[in-house]
Amino acid sequence: MCGIFAYLNYLVTKDRKTIVDTLVSGLARLEYRGYDSAGVSVDGDTTEEVLIYKQVGKVAALKKLISEQKCDFGKEFVSHCGMAHTRWATHGEPSPTNSHPHRSDPNNEFTVVHNGIITNYKELKTVLENKGYRFESETDTEAVAKLAKYLYDSQKDNQTLSFTALVKGVIKELEGAFALIFKSIHFPNEIVATRRGSPLLVGVKTEKKLKVDFVDVEFGAEEKVPAPANLLAPPSAEGHPKLRRSQSRAFLSEDGLPQPIEFFLASDPSAIVEHTKRVLYLEDDDIAHISDGELHIHRLRRDDGMPSVRSIQTLEIELAEIMKGRFDHFMQKEIYEQPESVVNTMRGRVNFESHKVTLGGLKAYLATIRRCRRIVFCACGTSYHSCVATRAIFEELTEIPVSVELASDFLDRKTPIFRDDVCVFVSQSGETADTILALRYCLERGALCLGITNTVGSTISRETHCGVHINAGPEIGVASTKAYTSQFIALVMMAIQLSEDRSSMTQRRNDIIDELYKLSDHIKAVLNSDKELQQLAKEVLYKEKSLLIMGRGFQNATCLEGALKIKEVSYMHSEGILAGELKHGPLALIDENMPVILIMTKDSLYPKVQSALQQVTARKGQPIIICNDDDDGISKQYKTIRIPQTVDCLQGLLTIIPLQLLSYHLAVLHGVDVDFPRNLAKSVTVE
Ligand code: F6R
Repeated sequence: MCGIFAYLNYLVTKDRKTIVDTLVSGLARLEYRGYDSAGVSVDGDTTEEVLIYKQVGKVAALKKLISEQKCDFGKEFVSHCGMAHTRWATHGEPSPTNSHPHRSDPNNEFTVVHNGIITNYKELKTVLENKGYRFESETDTEAVAKLAKYLYDSQKDNQTLSFTALVKGVIKELEGAFALIFKSIHFPNEIVATRRGSPLLVGVKTEKKLKVDFVDVEFGAEEKVPAPANLLAPPSAEGHPKLRRSQSRAFLSEDGLPQPIEFFLASDPSAIVEHTKRVLYLEDDDIAHISDGELHIHRLRRDDGMPSVRSIQTLEIELAEIMKGRFDHFMQKEIYEQPESVVNTMRGRVNFESHKVTLGGLKAYLATIRRCRRIVFCACGTSYHSCVATRAIFEELTEIPVSVELASDFLDRKTPIFRDDVCVFVSQSGETADTILALRYCLERGALCLGITNTVGSTISRETHCGVHINAGPEIGVASTKAYTSQFIALVMMAIQLSEDRSSMTQRRNDIIDELYKLSDHIKAVLNSDKELQQLAKEVLYKEKSLLIMGRGFQNATCLEGALKIKEVSYMHSEGILAGELKHGPLALIDENMPVILIMTKDSLYPKVQSALQQVTARKGQPIIICNDDDDGISKQYKTIRIPQTVDCLQGLLTIIPLQLLSYHLAVLHGVDVDFPRNLAKSVTVE
């Protein structure tokens, strides 16, 4: 939900066009996070002036708007800071006024971009309106910009007032989740950025090598936290942190001299990696101040147990990994990447000769997990389906009871959690608000918490005790595809490793590992039927209003996930139905007009699925059947989608592929913007 980006150049001369292009192309990379509107702010012709451009719709529309402006694009800046935002609307409809950057006043004294939700913005707005501030938008973010100005105006005679201290004063008043970037005409060429609950990282680009690879954290003096009754009381002078303006060693070159430097701030690395791979992830309540070519990190409160240095890491993703390549859409590319991504998930972890699985991240916790009284899987959407898909094999191999929870419902129910529970949080982005809140709930109750994520440095991977990175590579398409299959494999690997002390399961484990070895080739075989699936979408399904997907046992998750894919990218109604439940209600929907896909692969439940087929055909239904290659028992009267056979608990990794492809083709036929389906965002960082 929303992507934020900022770019600062220090002693590196750039013209306004280059600066704007850098901001806009950073936004384009973040567009999957929200695409209701976009905006940028850059300096005007003097440091007293800030230009803001905003446009409804995608980044391309903003780009067009900027190119039509009559401003001096050739004007050069030796040092400059600009910021940008792409929005997924939460408060207020998509409109230019509700777009970011938001401003404190008509002179743009403070401009702010924000990802997250300020839950107490109504209270802040009321207080500020009573003090004479006039709001122009319906957003929560505008209250932040106005609050900055209010605190500045009440303190401007205070010589010690720094931009950092001001922002500290602002965020002390905020409740909710945020990644915020501030720019101000009162602090030219400076940026302050902070986060709580929403992701933010800083990229550093220099010609010469940095002297050291870390940044000191500055804790400052303790500030008084205003009491609730004192809401918006300006911070007292002695309350301001006494900044240690120590020269930050990291930003000197090895010869000890300040050097030309560029900084990039972004909600995720995809917007930074084309410029630099050197990044620093901000932690909750960090306040990063960039000025004079230096980055200083301050903490909101001192002695909060945070480490006093932060290392600058090297990103391992390549730009090519986040480009579309020969494909029309990221979703298509990501479906086609699965023969590789599943191998990457297993690489270095599965030994196919000794039939052993080693997940390094769990090693130290295996004994505790084996002793636990139950395992709770907790996730949302597609990630939840990967938990549904693997629950049975997890229980079978480990003999530990597993419950599978939708994170939002888990919190709504205030589910009892105990110290001897193990809770597993599965999330592609690692930033889903519902899952993070469920994680914090479990941490508070003393449970061991594991994260299964695709995003190194994400909140879930940082806040869990241990976990597994699925290594699927960046997933840009809003509809999750390759992350699903990799999460599925990560959970199966985890079950195998946990059960290695159970000799009665040796054969079962070996069979699964042997089939994991063949998985990549099996996926390639399914992808080979893409043309037929495209035809099926065009000739049979495209004009339909609804599609039921049925199966049972290990295929239940495929039905749910397939239906979710179809809904979200083709806007066609679709429902996943457990075939055993047919006679308890859904059968009433069946007639000769209702499109049905039935998953009927060869496992122990095959006879039961055959009876579901009879129930459907007896009501004149004509299901399309997903079955195994060598299944000769299926009457020629049915259309079939044939896939290789594998061990029962992995079959869902293959049955999902035709449904991913079908949903993709249906979306294209319906003219949907496949990678950006309406009303959705890749990373759902609000509850
Ligand atoms: C559907 C989809 C969503 C996500 C859900 C959780 O294609 O992508 O249902 O699975 O929003 O997101 P993560 O996995 O990032 O926690």
